Amino acid sequence: MEIGSEFYFQEKREEQTGKINWKDWERNLGFTQMTSSGRGALSLLLQEVSPRDKTVCLPAYLCDSILLPFIHNGYECYFYDIEKDLSPDLDSVRKLMNERKIGIFYHMGYFGFHTNRKLESILEELHHKDTIVVEDITHTLFSDDFHRKNNDYVIASIRKWMALPTGGLLASQLKREDKHLSPDTALAELRKEAFQFKTEFMHRVKENPSDHMPLKDLYLSLFQLGEEQLEKDDTVHGMDPFSNSLLQEENLSFLIKRRRNNFKFLSEKLGISHILQPVFTKASYQICPMFFPIYCKNFRNELRTYLSRNEIYCPIHWPIPKEIDLGGFSKTQEIYQSILSIPCDQRYEDLAMERVIEVLKDFINSHT
Ligand SMILES: Cc1ncc(COP(=O)(O)O)c(C=O)c1O
Repeated sequence: MEIGSEFYFQEKREEQTGKINWKDWERNLGFTQMTSSGRGALSLLLQEVSPRDKTVCLPAYLCDSILLPFIHNGYECYFYDIEKDLSPDLDSVRKLMNERKIGIFYHMGYFGFHTNRKLESILEELHHKDTIVVEDITHTLFSDDFHRKNNDYVIASIRKWMALPTGGLLASQLKREDKHLSPDTALAELRKEAFQFKTEFMHRVKENPSDHMPLKDLYLSLFQLGEEQLEKDDTVHGMDPFSNSLLQEENLSFLIKRRRNNFKFLSEKLGISHILQPVFTKASYQICPMFFPIYCKNFRNELRTYLSRNEIYCPIHWPIPKEIDLGGFSKTQEIYQSILSIPCDQRYEDLAMERVIEVLKDFINSHT
């Protein structure tokens, strides 16, 4: 059975120790408006703010869907370097603060970890200088212990966490008026259909593992089409009602607990080798991990292919956005070139994680 790749619709499973739902979670975020995607939330933000300078300071390690709304809105983009532990290089942030006027400062934690925590006093300074501070909480959405006092806004893509046709948010502790946003019905229908085909595929493949490849090609092409549609459309949309009802029904206690358990399982069993190293060796109880990221410096593509031959599909976060010149950002460059994300989400239990470990260990053994 495959591990990783796109989500699919699953029976809702109950967590005996509690049931946190989206309504409980959303309360922490302040005034929240739902959008169809993370980039939609960002475009909505850019319609709403008028920074004193049309400039933005961003981490050099990011995905291009964050960058494009700024570029399309005419912002000049500056970047700061990111360390191997995925925290911001403070010297590089300070350098930008000294040399540039910063209209918007954009920061984020990665893979569930608040790796941006050490920015706190810099954020306070920026906040007092009237820079608009925005945190992208896509990766830390379900981790506790956030101190957001210096953020003016937060944005997130929710659709990365579960089978949701559409889902993003823009939030602020300051009162903001919700704009009327109509849903992107075409995108919602397309992605809903893709999830349905994948769900059917997963059921059929359980009965007969060798069959049903046409179904796989079909849902993969629909997901691909959905991503292309998102890339083309700059309009800001709301979340569609079907996705909204799925999100309201999601048992977040279950999602968080499963991810934490799976992360713990992987980190305890994998250990450290010279071939691959976990980016984070341990997740505290406040962390809800998005993936289990590893560094595999010289063999990443080979490892990724080996894993996919064993039906373990690991994304790379992220391909280097072509809009960034990484000259001068050697630390970030190394991250882009060696990081790989191992799935540890709520679809899996120990048995699946055990298989991941076996395959990773086989790879390590064949290289020592
Ligand atoms: C950290 C982060 N923020 C925002 C986005 C944009 O989200 P969406 O794809 O829903 O537009 C992404 C997409 O990968 C992301 O990884």
